[in-house]
Amino acid sequence: MQTERLGTSPDDLARAARLLAAGRCVAIPTETVYGLAADATDDRAVAAIFAAKDRPAFNPLIVHLANAAGARRLAVFGSEAEALAQAFWPGALTLVLPLRPDAGIAGLVTAGLASVALRVPAHPVAQALLAQFGGPVAAPSANASGRISPTRADHVLDPEGGLAGRIAAVVDAGPCPVGVESTIIGWPGGRATLLRPGGIPAEAVEAALGHPLARTTADPDRPLAPGQLLSHYAPRASLRLNAAVAHPGETHIGFGRGAADGALNLSPSGNLVEAAARLFDCLRRADAAGAPIAVAPIPDHGLGAAINDRLRRAAAPRG
Ligand code: TXA
Ligand code: MG
Repeated sequence: MQTERLGTSPDDLARAARLLAAGRCVAIPTETVYGLAADATDDRAVAAIFAAKDRPAFNPLIVHLANAAGARRLAVFGSEAEALAQAFWPGALTLVLPLRPDAGIAGLVTAGLASVALRVPAHPVAQALLAQFGGPVAAPSANASGRISPTRADHVLDPEGGLAGRIAAVVDAGPCPVGVESTIIGWPGGRATLLRPGGIPAEAVEAALGHPLARTTADPDRPLAPGQLLSHYAPRASLRLNAAVAHPGETHIGFGRGAADGALNLSPSGNLVEAAARLFDCLRRADAAGAPIAVAPIPDHGLGAAINDRLRRAAAPRG
C-alpha cells in the first residue's frame, strides 16, 4: 500500500475523513503526538490499527471525540471526571471511565475491559477531522508498538520503524505543540489515580480536583495502563539518564545552559514546555547517530514528570 501524504487544505481534510469513513487508518496530528486514527465503531478498521502497529491486542486504545457531549454518550462520568473534563477539554487529558454497554465501540478498542479511555483533543486539525467524520475515532500514537511516539509527519513515515506503506495516509500539520502524550487519569477502586503522566501536569489536575492524585505503583507485569509497560519508547541505542556530561563516544542531549555548540539540547533556556515539545525529535536525532545516548538531568515537576517517565522507559532493559 502507498501511504498518501495529505496537507491541511479543506480538500485534503475531506479526503482524510472519507478514508476514515471507508474503514481505513489515517495518521492525524493532535496537540500531543500524531495518532493512528480509525473508526472506533468498526471492528475491522480497529483491527487494522493493531496490525499496522504490531500492537498486542491486550493493549486498549484511546477514543477521540470532538466534544465532551460525544464522550458522555460513551461512558459514565462521575463528578470528578465531569470537573476534569470541564477544566481540561479540549486538551491533553485522557479519562478512563466505565463504558456504556450500548456505546457501540468495537471490542478491540477496550481490549474487552469494562472501561474506555476518552479524550477530546484541542489541535484544530484533529478538531476539524473529528467534526467532519462525525463519530468516535480510536487513535493510539502513530508509531510501531514499543517505539518512540511521532511528533512530526516525517516520524510517522520514518523508513526505520515507521508506518509508511502500512497505513492509507498521514495528515501533515507540522510539529505537535505539546510533544508528549496525554495525561491519563482513571478511578480504579474509586480514587482519582494518575495512570500516565503527560501533557497536563499532575499538579494542575490536583489543583482542579482539590486533592492529591493516587499514583500507580509501576508493576510492569500488571499495568493499569498497559502503556506503562517498561521498555516502551525504545530507541535503538542505549540510554544513560542524569548525565550532566557525556562520556567519550556518547551522544549528549542537554537541558539548560552549558551545552556545546551544535549539541542536542531539549531547551537551552531550561523551559520544560519547550523540552517536552522537542523530546521525541531529539531522541530520534540522537538515535540516528548510532552511538549510546546520555541525557542531562531534567527537573521532575510540571511537564518534567512526563519527560522523565518517557526517558526512564526508553532507558529500561529491553524485553
Ligand atoms: O496523547 C495521546 O494520548 C495520544 C494521542 C494520539 O491522543 N495517544 C496515545 O495512545 O498515546 P497510546 O495508545 O499510545 O496510549 C494509550 C494508553 C495506553 O497506555 C493504554 O494502555 C491506555 O492508554 N488505555 C487505553 N484504554 C485504557 C483503559 N480502558 N484502561 C486503562 N488504560 C487504558
Ligand atoms: Mg503509544
